[in-house]
Amino acid sequence: MELFLDTAILDEIKRGAETGLISGATTNPSLAAKAGKDYNDVLKEICSIIKGPVSAETVSPDADGMVKEGVEFSKIAKNIIIKVPMTVEGMKACQKLTKKNIKVNVTLCFSANQALLAAKSGAFIVSPFVGRLDDIGEVGMDLIKDIRLIYNNYKFTTQILVASVRNPIHVLDAAKIGADIATMPYSVFEQLFKHTLTDVGIKKFLEDWEKVPKKR
Ligand code: G3P
Repeated sequence: MELFLDTAILDEIKRGAETGLISGATTNPSLAAKAGKDYNDVLKEICSIIKGPVSAETVSPDADGMVKEGVEFSKIAKNIIIKVPMTVEGMKACQKLTKKNIKVNVTLCFSANQALLAAKSGAFIVSPFVGRLDDIGEVGMDLIKDIRLIYNNYKFTTQILVASVRNPIHVLDAAKIGADIATMPYSVFEQLFKHTLTDVGIKKFLEDWEKVPKKR
């Protein structure tokens, strides 16, 4: 499973890239607002750091507007992919952009039928939001299981990108189900490295190392 960072904050992108474990990034208008910089500039910088797919989100309500925005974003860098929402207009835009060889990430997916429509529209990636489903008392991961089953049934190549990840358990469950990608805040990525017993183990080894006789 690929690990992406869900952020537009360049420092986090840089730190993530330095680990050698991050293969893409996702952004959206809310994350761009948090970054507090021109969106195109931020995307350009992210693409100079991360070589894998970097998602840029359109905001037009209609397909033609989304296509226009998508074409402009795609000029920023080769690895830009275009986020369109899961709406009728979004699916029209997905088909048009795909025909132009521009890759699409269908975002705001909350049901398996929506994911089916995204795959049939030629989406490169579909983004089901697990955390927001959990927030309203549904089980977000059940959606990932359903999408995995449907995509396997029909050999759809659309990649399942688990989004709205809030904790390491979301990442673990996504991997167990066989999702293709999980995108996460930097704070969750950091948590993946940690275990109390690792810290205890390192401390003990360092203490014992001090007791090892040394020639110099
Ligand atoms: O990738 C989509 C993600 O940014 C949404 O996350 O936490 O706002 O539901 P959240």
